[in-house]
Amino acid sequence: MTRRKLIAGNWKMNMKTADGKALAEAVFDKCRPGLPFDILICPPMSLLGTIAGMNRSAGAVGAQDVAEAPKPAGAYTGDISAEMVKDLGAAYTLVGHSERRTLHGETDAVVRTKAANAIAAGLTAVVCIGETLAERESGKTLDVLRTQVNGSVPPDATAGTCVVAYEPVWAIGTGKVPTNADVAEAHAAIRAELGKLLGAETADALRILYGGSVKPSNAAELLAIDNVDGALIGGASLKIEDFWGIAETQQ
Ligand code: 13P
Repeated sequence: MTRRKLIAGNWKMNMKTADGKALAEAVFDKCRPGLPFDILICPPMSLLGTIAGMNRSAGAVGAQDVAEAPKPAGAYTGDISAEMVKDLGAAYTLVGHSERRTLHGETDAVVRTKAANAIAAGLTAVVCIGETLAERESGKTLDVLRTQVNGSVPPDATAGTCVVAYEPVWAIGTGKVPTNADVAEAHAAIRAELGKLLGAETADALRILYGGSVKPSNAAELLAIDNVDGALIGGASLKIEDFWGIAETQQ
């Protein structure tokens, strides 16, 4: 199965209106139909409607999170439902990013509920998983990933409604990346676990992204590893030269 690569930028809590619009414009400018890969940008919620509403011939826009609330509307102060995100013109949302898990105490169960809400609203959920440094050093990486896949991916997910992003927590924003062999081992274990959960056919088609210190200089190598179907990019997605420098390795 050949899976189309997905190059995704997670802007995190960065960009005010002028800079965010300029960056999105620069990205969309390069997103010509016929590109051999898919592009996704995930701006902060404050800019989601503006950017999702911008003219473009290709390139998708996603949120960084959606509400866990059981209803699409109601008394949930400060929350934004998956339906609202979809209504703004987004096609994707991240769920369970390690910064949400760590800073907001999101458990696998919370992440799975958010992913299910996203899918029910017609969004594709990018479910983020990854081990901490302590977990890696104590040899628990693959167990952690299997537990997170089982706990965070809705059992009715499909290749169209779900993407998994493997982001080792210790590789995020640190400039450190796992060895190619470690990335290959993790992605293979994730796909095998998805096979048990979703069936072999779905697991084979579902995209698994790598995230954590992806840069133009290491992108070609990382994206050539078996079962790596794209990248989820933080810091380097904030500069067009870097973000497109990564995408261009897949031309
Ligand atoms: P960096 O690319 O800055 O390491 O961030 C990765 C990430 O967290 C993307 O979601």
